[in-house]
Amino acid sequence: MKKIAILGLGYIGLPTAITLADAGFVVAGFDTNQEIVNILNTGRIHIVEPGLGEALNRSVSSGRLTFSNELTGADVFYIAVPTPFYSEMGRISADLSYVKSAASMIAKVIKEGNLVILESTVPPRTTEMISKIIEEESGLREQDFCIAHCPERVIPGHMLEELKNNDRIVGGRTKKAGEMAKEIYEKVLVKGKIRLTDDLTAEMCKLTENTFRDINIAFANELSIICDELGIDVFELISLANCHPRVNILNPGVGVGGHCIAVDPWFIYEQFPEEAKLIYAARLRNDSKPKYVADCVFNAVKDKKDAVIAVLGLSYKPDVDDLRESPSIELCHELTQLGCKVIACEPFVDSDVNGILNLPLEEAIRRCDYSVITLKHTVFSENKDLIASKPYYDCVGLMK
Ligand SMILES: NC(=O)c1ccc[n+]([C@@H]2O[C@H](COP(=O)([O-])OP(=O)(O)OC[C@H]3O[C@@H](n4cnc5c(N)ncnc54)[C@H](O)[C@@H]3O)[C@@H](O)[C@H]2O)c1
Repeated sequence: MKKIAILGLGYIGLPTAITLADAGFVVAGFDTNQEIVNILNTGRIHIVEPGLGEALNRSVSSGRLTFSNELTGADVFYIAVPTPFYSEMGRISADLSYVKSAASMIAKVIKEGNLVILESTVPPRTTEMISKIIEEESGLREQDFCIAHCPERVIPGHMLEELKNNDRIVGGRTKKAGEMAKEIYEKVLVKGKIRLTDDLTAEMCKLTENTFRDINIAFANELSIICDELGIDVFELISLANCHPRVNILNPGVGVGGHCIAVDPWFIYEQFPEEAKLIYAARLRNDSKPKYVADCVFNAVKDKKDAVIAVLGLSYKPDVDDLRESPSIELCHELTQLGCKVIACEPFVDSDVNGILNLPLEEAIRRCDYSVITLKHTVFSENKDLIASKPYYDCVGLMK
């Protein structure tokens, strides 16, 4: 198993390709987006991730990493394509179109004995579905190739480190598939351990991890609303409660964003709407938080005509540029609906976002009457005095 093809060169696929090339594999990165392939072929990267640019140049110079928009044969195929969700007539469903199209592309070039590793986060039984697509479209029998689901657990901002040091769940559809996938991860992992299981358990494991966090944050967000009513500080409350040796409450915020925690619980709910009542309630609680914050801010400024609100932070987590499912963008939308004039400061994005004027911090504070702190970006932590020069609503406890 020497040559690896990676389908999808985004936040997950690109660092994975680089890490595999560093581990000695010959890696062919493939993306359907020609622009991404072009950028990578000029030695630049299209995402913000510390150390990734340097690591890319090292791997490309070694001759083991190439990029193309044409998928050719390989020993192993990694699928790292998006798995968003969509809403239709009030029903939320996983959008598996990218995963299905990746499987069809692999079916055209796969050979007997090859291994397919699905890294994208997927609803239960997707690995089985992918296997069937490859079987039907390649002419191979299921026993002629191997397939495993190995969900990715890295956190943006620490990708290169976590790819080597996090434990890996390796879910083979067969024992042989699990063993083959294990052999590859063994070459990459430094501190991380391999946990072998079946594909269905691996699918549910990834969804369970993120759903656990979503429910925990929903509890914190609910506490923040109750604390507002009581007039006490939710951050102090949680820090005191967490002194208990068996309590670990996460932090409240402006909601929950990103393509993982805000998405994955829906993959369970979609298939088990009767059973997943707690999961559903947590999703609703987190999704309603931007509206709650917008109402609080509106009440604080309603006596000032034409008040300008600066939303400090538009990405979904601190110190990244990723805007997917960002609750701060939802907050801007809610504030605009209430008639407020909204500007923003998102230092990791160098353009306006969804029509919201994106300004450097100093200018945003100068122009605003009131700010809402939605993220602990380092640049905000370093400029607390500047932020405190105007009244603010602090969703994340930055100013403590
Ligand atoms: N980003 C994270 O922090 C993270 C963490 C854990 C798991 N995941 C999961 O990993 C998967 C990928 O996420 P991401 O953040 O890397 O997405 P992304 O949008 O950053 O990248 C996906 C890439 O796949 C490409 N693509 C789409 N269809 C393709 C196809 N058929 N063949 C080749 N390329 C194709 C897109 O052009 C894009 O560049 C998702 O399932 C996500 O939930 C992401």
